[in-house]
Amino acid sequence: MESGQGRIKPSKRRTIVRSVLALGLALACVSAVKREDFKTCSQSGFCARNRAYADIAKETPQWASPFQLNPSSLRLHKGVLTGDLINVQEDKQPSDKPALAFELHLLDTDAARVRINERNPIHPRYDGVQDTVLIKPYGHATEESYQKLGKDENGVLTIQYGAQNQNTVRISSAPFKIEFLVNGVPTVLLNDEGLLRFERLRKKEEPKVEEEGEKQGEEANSDPLVEQNAGGNEIEIAIEKSDLEKKLEENLWEEKFKEFTDSKPRGPESFGMDITFSGINHVYGIPEHASSLSLKATRGPDAPYTDPYRLYNLDVFEYEGDNPMALYGSVPFMLGHSKNSTAAVFWMNAAETWIDVEKSPEDKTGGILSWIKSKKTAQSAATKTHWISEAGVLDLFVFLGPTHRDIFRQYASLVGTTALPQAFSIAYHQCRWNYNNQQDVAEVDAGFDEHDIPYDVLWLDIEHTNGKRYFTWDEAKFPNPTEMQESLSTKGRKMVTIIDPHIKKDGDYHVSKEGAELDVYIKNKDGSSDFDGWCWPGSSQWIDFYNPKARDWWASQFSYDKYIGSTKSLFTWNDMNEPSVFSGPEITIPKDVIHYGNVEHRNVHNLYGTMFHSATAQGLTHRNETNQRPFVLSRAFFAGTQRFGAIWTGDNVASWEHLELASPMLLTIGLSGIPFSGADVGGFFGSPDAELLTRWYQAGIYYPFFRAHAHLDSKRREPWLFGEPYTTQIREAIRTRYTLLPFWYTLFQEASVEGTPIIRPMFTVFPEDEAVFGMDDQYMVGDAILVKPVVKSAVVQSNVYFAGKEKWFDIKDYSVEQGPGFKDIDSPADKIPVYQRAGTIVPKRERPRRSSKAMENDPFTLVVALDSKGEASGRLYLDDGESFNYEKGDYILTEFKVSNGVLSSRKVESATASGESSFTEKAGGLRIERLVILGATAPLKKVTVGDRTVQVNCSLVGGSYVCTVKEPQVTIGKDFDLSFA
Ligand code: NOJ
Repeated sequence: MESGQGRIKPSKRRTIVRSVLALGLALACVSAVKREDFKTCSQSGFCARNRAYADIAKETPQWASPFQLNPSSLRLHKGVLTGDLINVQEDKQPSDKPALAFELHLLDTDAARVRINERNPIHPRYDGVQDTVLIKPYGHATEESYQKLGKDENGVLTIQYGAQNQNTVRISSAPFKIEFLVNGVPTVLLNDEGLLRFERLRKKEEPKVEEEGEKQGEEANSDPLVEQNAGGNEIEIAIEKSDLEKKLEENLWEEKFKEFTDSKPRGPESFGMDITFSGINHVYGIPEHASSLSLKATRGPDAPYTDPYRLYNLDVFEYEGDNPMALYGSVPFMLGHSKNSTAAVFWMNAAETWIDVEKSPEDKTGGILSWIKSKKTAQSAATKTHWISEAGVLDLFVFLGPTHRDIFRQYASLVGTTALPQAFSIAYHQCRWNYNNQQDVAEVDAGFDEHDIPYDVLWLDIEHTNGKRYFTWDEAKFPNPTEMQESLSTKGRKMVTIIDPHIKKDGDYHVSKEGAELDVYIKNKDGSSDFDGWCWPGSSQWIDFYNPKARDWWASQFSYDKYIGSTKSLFTWNDMNEPSVFSGPEITIPKDVIHYGNVEHRNVHNLYGTMFHSATAQGLTHRNETNQRPFVLSRAFFAGTQRFGAIWTGDNVASWEHLELASPMLLTIGLSGIPFSGADVGGFFGSPDAELLTRWYQAGIYYPFFRAHAHLDSKRREPWLFGEPYTTQIREAIRTRYTLLPFWYTLFQEASVEGTPIIRPMFTVFPEDEAVFGMDDQYMVGDAILVKPVVKSAVVQSNVYFAGKEKWFDIKDYSVEQGPGFKDIDSPADKIPVYQRAGTIVPKRERPRRSSKAMENDPFTLVVALDSKGEASGRLYLDDGESFNYEKGDYILTEFKVSNGVLSSRKVESATASGESSFTEKAGGLRIERLVILGATAPLKKVTVGDRTVQVNCSLVGGSYVCTVKEPQVTIGKDFDLSFA
């Protein structure tokens, strides 16, 4: 929808916007992504230049990087190695340019950081990403924790570091290369392919006045080479440049794309470098792309993609599956995994970035031969990646684990973990563009109760406002918003309204007026006049969230006395924050507009949406000192977004293909540090039929953020509208989500402390099973629940992979499957395969209610799935679900463990709690009303708690016993031991 409008000239828009809107809506169902609106690498000057450089390297026999470290400049002090990096090709010796500054930092988390910047550039290169992305100044490794092993005969400097001295970094000076080794095995290699390239800031050269006889174009096409002739005199020989070499000089200054010109006043300033994951064939991460979990090759023979993966936050209308085009969010984090190692990198840059992926062929030989060759293979298997950014400084973190959990923790210690969400926000959300008026809201709300379907949040899209003026209401449609929210609130339900970053230019609109008075809008390239462009409200301005004054002012808009009609149960949806600008290049804001501090937008583009998200979360947190956690959903994202709320995957389509795409997309986003994410259930564009909608609900209940949403032009599709059997099937799916809320909430708490993903790729739970490394059509929720969504029409059987050597239990009928291996499993219309892994304990609440709030005093069920040793473990986390009191230790965290026939429950004491609070007192008394014990090899005969005997009933299900213990009279707040035999 958005990009359809993007191609209409602003001048005409004012008069025709309504009819265009209507036409656009009608077309929305039939059209697809407009690829021509978005650049390919060859249309992006710096990407093309850096790729050409990679081609030159490939074509040149014995290619060696021209970069060298000046060995005499190297200093290692307090965990930081510094030195001078010289390009021996560019900087004729003795050089007239200062060398590049090289830094290697060893961190106290065992991570490492590599930085390359210009020394004394003609203007400073932008280095501010760290100020907004890193949560705190981190600690360096202490001098005792690393050891300089000296230089070998080739001048390679070796430093050993890490808690167990497991890591080694080898720095080669000529050519410049860095190798990170884990236990002596090369794992992450920088500039091993010699693709490091660094465009220095320069003055634009005025075109030379041609001298007589000088051929036009000769200057650009040849380089003079100075040689000495036999007589010892210097002569100049002109060398013809190859086509690739000519490409290195293209589009250095002004650059055109369609009708847009990027003025690039600072000229070229891009850089690129190769990062090799040695011994590793699968790499993951760098969202957001509509593609597979294991990244595909973009270079080399048989590469499925021809363009690199692109990171540039864009509003892509009806995006297509299976391609590396940029989407709404960017996280330059990549994790590589093999049976033997796991490592990751974070390329901390918020400018446009492209990443090529090239895979070394895997060794396909089997048997003894492969064993003999295994040593060699381990060295030759590799994924080579090439990272290219338009501006800023090269700033890279390397995480060597050694486990995934270590990597998630190391990465999270820099960019933060997910904020613990409000409990309601992990329940079900009902959204549509648009719920038309207050009566519509009341009817939809009542519909849920009539059909006995729980839901927590009703959403209002842009039409609820007065002419797309955010923080206002269309008074004819929503005459009494406070009453509306209060009526939802009596049932424990909330409301979310949309607030976008474009502000309608209108002197009578209070936000627009205050913004102008405070001078908080993004500026044109002249640095003084306000930028204006076109978005939903027509002519609009964009708030400059880089201005601290703008952030505070924006946050203040959420206080109840400013946002008239808002209440404590109203939360926020931040959309269009890439930012989407209908009249701009690639439907976004031009790169040469200026932010506070004279920062060109090109440096911070991928962070803009996050700055907006963060200011909004700040607003909700501080509105009238309610001590309430915020809830803000954002479409654009970057590394660190997890600190501010949830994200979703934007404008997907009501098609089977998009249902299938959602799993790899959400898994990728989650492992890149943003676990609270979802895809529009049902598909945004178009109208799903009943089968697709039902299958989408069955899958969507396993998205961390679970919201149904629909385009303005799609048919109404509230869960009961298709009638039976679909209403029952959807009700059953949503209720299943609600029964598992205690398990989900516990996973969110873990994510908020450890930085772990919530839905997890199979390989993170089974890191040694190569069969799962490329798997993204099934996944784990935590480490306990396996989900395989049905993503094709008319499917009644699914081929499920049961990893590991333990059993798996169907969560509905407790039937048993034995791993490892694939098995066809029935997946009739009312069910998708979902299994609990043996060895886990899952807490549930099984009483159907209207909303999650209404369940808050309900007792628990524990489903205990015993492994072959008769053991299992799990946790339950509970707090008040809405305030920040948990930070003071006001929560209950209970660990359950079974071994030797005893289920023990132990409260984990909080370090910050100051005694019993009213919450812990009340919640600590909540009962465990039922235990379901799966996987016993014989029926349990006797269950006791202390000297009390408790009733148990067992039945045989598919060769294994399901034993139910009712009312063992234990609570979550008091430790207990329950014995069974
Ligand atoms: C684009 C968003 O992606 C979509 O979810 C929303 O409904 C429309 N903007 C209208 O606000």
